[in-house]
Amino acid sequence: MNRKLSLESAYDLKSPKDNIELYSVWAETYDMDFINEMQYKLHFSVADEFILNGGEGLVLDVGAGTGALAQALLQKGKFSIEATDISEEMLKIAKSKNIYKRSFLSDLTKEIPVENSFYDGVVSSGTFTHGHVGPSSIGELVRVTKPGGLITISINEKHWVALDFKSEVKKLNNYTRNYTLKKISIYGEQSTHDHKNDKAIILTIKV
Ligand SMILES: C[S@@+](CC[C@H](N)C(=O)[O-])C[C@H]1O[C@@H](n2cnc3c(N)ncnc32)[C@H](O)[C@@H]1O
Repeated sequence: MNRKLSLESAYDLKSPKDNIELYSVWAETYDMDFINEMQYKLHFSVADEFILNGGEGLVLDVGAGTGALAQALLQKGKFSIEATDISEEMLKIAKSKNIYKRSFLSDLTKEIPVENSFYDGVVSSGTFTHGHVGPSSIGELVRVTKPGGLITISINEKHWVALDFKSEVKKLNNYTRNYTLKKISIYGEQSTHDHKNDKAIILTIKV
């Protein structure tokens, strides 16, 4: 893997602008040198958890990247999925796979350009992590989800602790029915790289 396009450089990002710059050059090779080479499997775990909890209907994939999570969902069920991401180039790759009903640019640290209660579900894998998106963006996910809908997102375990995601989720309890947490591995058992033991929390919120 090109050293400049690596997990380390992604974790070191400081701002949404930095994310746009990195992913604009990483988009072309992301599937090959991150998903395949590092045996990334978080998108499958998020898809499984969303389905296990009854996720269905019109779904928004936030920080959709090249579309790995939508592909995982569509392997297991019937969904109508929209994609949003801050990187035009990542969305371009996602669009080329013909898996999304619609895609649009947005910065999750700001307002998502969608009306209240629009989606039956919201999903995300790999986007709530170091150098990317923090807990204050979860309120927007709740806002765009219908009452009775479901949110399933992954959060890097160390990022969860460092940015105190739990306090944010507890605050949102006034607007949601309940939530569950599950800890899982981000990479496959056969992986040998430095991050092979990294974990993520899968947060599922019933709105
Ligand atoms: C590690 S990739 C994960 C992509 C995909 N979900 C997956 O599982 O392969 C992180 C994605 O988050 C996006 N991202 C980073 N900051 C963002 C922001 N502020 N708003 C929206 N998307 C953002 C990046 O452009 C990138 O596509």
